[in-house]
Amino acid sequence: MLLAGLGGGQDKVLPMLQALQARYGYVHAEAVGLVAAAVNVSRAEVHGVMTFYHDFRTELPAARVIRLCRAEACQAVGCEALVDEAARLGVVVDGPAAGSVSVETVYCLGNCALGPAALVGEELVGLLDLDGLRALVAGA
Ligand code: FES
Repeated sequence: MLLAGLGGGQDKVLPMLQALQARYGYVHAEAVGLVAAAVNVSRAEVHGVMTFYHDFRTELPAARVIRLCRAEACQAVGCEALVDEAARLGVVVDGPAAGSVSVETVYCLGNCALGPAALVGEELVGLLDLDGLRALVAGA
């Protein structure tokens, strides 16, 4: 039903994958075949789209995902210390979700002037420091 509502055609692969991830938080491996069949492309082509766009997940994410920017402007203002601190706090960084919080590193959130930048859910956070990261990890 979710996929059928998006119509057919190869150009629907991306919207279908986005819809699945928006609904379930990730794209289950079995969904690759369903998407391929729905738009009449190979599973390999759907897999190719999923792996090209790094935002797609193949496993259920942690309850809270903190996306830390690691691009140049944020590097210049200390994002690596935040990545190190997250690891020191025991948070999985760029790995399979384990626990209630995970950190994913990304490359530019479009908030370069207010780096280090992070995205927590839909909320963009700027000027993130170590105390701010600790509060985000703690759920504050
Ligand atoms: S470089 Fe970090 S938000 Fe652009």
